[in-house]
Amino acid sequence: MTTRHPTPPTTDDDWWRSAVVYQVYVRSFADSNGDGVGDLRGIRHHLPYLRDLGVDALWLTPFYTSPMVDGGYDVADYRDVDPMFGTLADFDRMITDAHALGLRIIVDLVPNHTSDAHPWFQAALAAAPGSPERDRYLFADGQGPDGGLPPNDWESIFGGPAWTRVPDGQWYLHLFDPTQPDLNWRHPEVREEFLDILRFWLDRGVDGFRIDVAHGMIKAEGLPDVGFNSMTTGRRQSELLGKGRLPYFDQDEVHDVYRAWRPVLDSYPGGRMAVAEAWAETPQRLARYIGPDELHQAFSFDFLDATWSADSFRKVIDTALTESTIVGAPTTWVLSNHDKQRHVTRYGDGPQGLRRARAASLLMLALPGSAYLYQGEELGLPEVLDLPDELRQDPAFLRTGESRDGCRVPIPWDGELAPYGFGPPGGAPSWLPAPATWQALSVAAQTGVPGSTLELYRTALRIRHDHPALATDAGEVVWLDTDPGVLAFRRVAGPAALTCVVNLSGAPVTIDGYGTAVAASAELTPAGTGHVLPVDAAAWFDEHRPTGGLTVGSPG
Ligand code: BGC
Ligand code: MG
Repeated sequence: MTTRHPTPPTTDDDWWRSAVVYQVYVRSFADSNGDGVGDLRGIRHHLPYLRDLGVDALWLTPFYTSPMVDGGYDVADYRDVDPMFGTLADFDRMITDAHALGLRIIVDLVPNHTSDAHPWFQAALAAAPGSPERDRYLFADGQGPDGGLPPNDWESIFGGPAWTRVPDGQWYLHLFDPTQPDLNWRHPEVREEFLDILRFWLDRGVDGFRIDVAHGMIKAEGLPDVGFNSMTTGRRQSELLGKGRLPYFDQDEVHDVYRAWRPVLDSYPGGRMAVAEAWAETPQRLARYIGPDELHQAFSFDFLDATWSADSFRKVIDTALTESTIVGAPTTWVLSNHDKQRHVTRYGDGPQGLRRARAASLLMLALPGSAYLYQGEELGLPEVLDLPDELRQDPAFLRTGESRDGCRVPIPWDGELAPYGFGPPGGAPSWLPAPATWQALSVAAQTGVPGSTLELYRTALRIRHDHPALATDAGEVVWLDTDPGVLAFRRVAGPAALTCVVNLSGAPVTIDGYGTAVAASAELTPAGTGHVLPVDAAAWFDEHRPTGGLTVGSPG
């Protein structure tokens, strides 16, 4: 059956609606000073690479003053740059250069919790139970005769209880690491502080914010038990993320926070935006974060979580497009980020994983809305699965044995020796080592090589930018009838039309009648008037382009 998803047109302030945003994990992108850690000057130096890649904006993970227990998601000063990453002057130079190249800058905002090194938390520890200093966080008395049991059964996302006891006997809440105490968002001072932090970065010219744990902040009144946790039933509460409701996530009052933020964003010129990292029980509840009086976008993690099957992708795409029509904002697609196993590895690793990852990327880039790329996916980097345990730094690793370090390994730029141009010659080893196999995956090794993943991304991003049916989130998505296991949809805007076909069927398929192939994730072989699309491959077809447009072949 043919399903039509109409979408409204864009204006310039709506740049984010169809933007391709490149996520820079600052620690691992490029190291300018040879200390083995990526930094702001490293980003600045590589801005021309990002412009040439064809992205519209960068999202920078936290670079603020931080003890770096959780890779900077533990912020000690929201208005300064950690010396490890540079200075505010470096930030200003970086954003000026980015804007001059036509690249916008989105920064990460971490409002759910601070670092325990934040002056507010230090003051709270020094003050007495019941003091105004403690009231900015969530301190509570414990249960049991001597208050020796946590106030409730809540569990940290990183494993273990979400409460830690301080010497005077009270407990404080931390939904993540014990060094990340949760703020009390019912406190007016907390709300004021973050409005001011927003203005601080907006005044410095940032184009938007990625809101960390946007579904957090407000906790149910009375801090009620969940009813189970790993200790009592062996089931982790975090299993409910995105599937059920927890008393500490997605509470209705969190929307008041965003309704207060939106007028601040809107008071600045140039379309300043915010994208939510939010997990909600249903797509409908997720959509509540988006709208003209709240945030602009929310990542569609269902797409990232989809399994490798036509049904699974079709279902999440349809749901997301339907929701986006209802809320009047386009979908925000993502396949990889700094918290998830890289999609090459999720789809099977090795040659199969790479083939599928390349096809999935073409699928994503043909969909209406914005797409978020994670640094290194344009190189086809896999997850590094064999990092030695003693080098792993993810705080979740010690508590759960699960580690996100494997997707945070520094980017290989060029050269024959690790860290492959990540830092200057003679610099310190990179904070996580790059595997020897990454020499062949470096930017230099793939540049100009037909069929390389980097050239596939460059081609796809160029077409997405130039083709009238893809360059906008306006127009229609029309699903086409195809063989089982094959996804095909047309993007139509006025007279322009582009068709994306993805073969998830497990066997090669012959396709015909869609027009000229302009991009393909694997070699297409001619068959009669059409083509054979190999297993685990995707291709784009332009109906109005006469002949000979194919620019991308097999994986390099
Ligand atoms: C970030 C993680 C971080 C957590 C706590 C997230 O969702 O993406 O990297 O560990 O928030 O701030
Ligand atoms: Mg450095």
